[in-house]
Amino acid sequence: MFIADAWYMGAWADELADAPVSRRICNQPLVLYRSKEGEVATLYDSCCHRGAPLSVGSVIDQGLQCGYHGLVFGNDGVCVHIPGQAQIPRKARVRSYPTVEKDQMIWVWMGDPEKADPALILDYPFHNDTGNWPHSHGMYEIDTTYQMMMDNLMDLTHLGYVHAKNVGGKAATLVEAEMDVITTEKGVDVKRWMPDCEPPPTYLKCVDLPEKIERWQEMEFIAPSAVLQWTGAVGKGQGAREDFSKRVGGFSMRLYHFATPVTETSCYYFWSAAHNHLLGDPDATENLRKEVEIALEEDKWIVQAQQDRIRETGDDWLVDVRSDKARVAMRHALKKMEAESGPLAAGPVVTDS
Ligand code: FES
Ligand SMILES: [Fe+2]
Repeated sequence: MFIADAWYMGAWADELADAPVSRRICNQPLVLYRSKEGEVATLYDSCCHRGAPLSVGSVIDQGLQCGYHGLVFGNDGVCVHIPGQAQIPRKARVRSYPTVEKDQMIWVWMGDPEKADPALILDYPFHNDTGNWPHSHGMYEIDTTYQMMMDNLMDLTHLGYVHAKNVGGKAATLVEAEMDVITTEKGVDVKRWMPDCEPPPTYLKCVDLPEKIERWQEMEFIAPSAVLQWTGAVGKGQGAREDFSKRVGGFSMRLYHFATPVTETSCYYFWSAAHNHLLGDPDATENLRKEVEIALEEDKWIVQAQQDRIRETGDDWLVDVRSDKARVAMRHALKKMEAESGPLAAGPVVTDS
């Protein structure tokens, strides 16, 4: 079941240039585009004439033009032009979805449009603060449920096994981390602390660090499927756990994660990696991107392999262990949101008007 009453990330803002973009969210085919006036919009991706995908059309001055016989649609999904005909039938329209551009991202609301409050969209100002947090970003289409991507992020003990050679490092360090898990109004806050450990390989590739460091991993899960992560390290004994002003001079990155359901068993995984170390060094952003992409490929590999097995067996026989604490809290938050959600805005037309 999909959570309909939610803002889902549909694209990076810079993906919407001249051409429309095809996406499938909550198993609905969608076309996202930017009008000539610069407004972003999302329509059901099928033309009301003969059903062709609108995403293979083009953006023209009057709206989105179907690439088959040239019908043109406004951002509200209403047909505004039919070649060779002055009269436009009342039913010539397709469903439009509330769409908002914020913090370099495009957000689409998949439930009741009346409930689509832009104030509910998460804040991520770091994407705009390129002076202090230069970043790179991307998206993977992953053959696993969005919930399983969230599971992956909520149990960071996997870093010592899946990512030992890059962002992880020693498994024992990750397993023994002190961890606070707090349920919040929006989801779950997770704070992990490793006060006396060795730097993992990625940190050493990016910056100089002493042999012993204090390391933090702080994550904010926002239902249904965002994780805002701040991870870093400075030399051991600085007291950076409580005093954020001490979190400079070492390694410091913010990872943004959002998993948007494509089908019941696949998702788009949007990510960005920003850093606060080596500001002004043009190579620093690129070096971090390379390291993060290696780790994300490893995540993709393990979660897809996991999904393959669970497809055969189901998941009701799986056992929770100590490291699942944050994951279990996250799943509770999802269940709550699922119970409160209304139905999906599904299909090419709005039937109740
Ligand atoms: S199918 Fe779109 S104009 Fe004919
Ligand atoms: Fe991972």
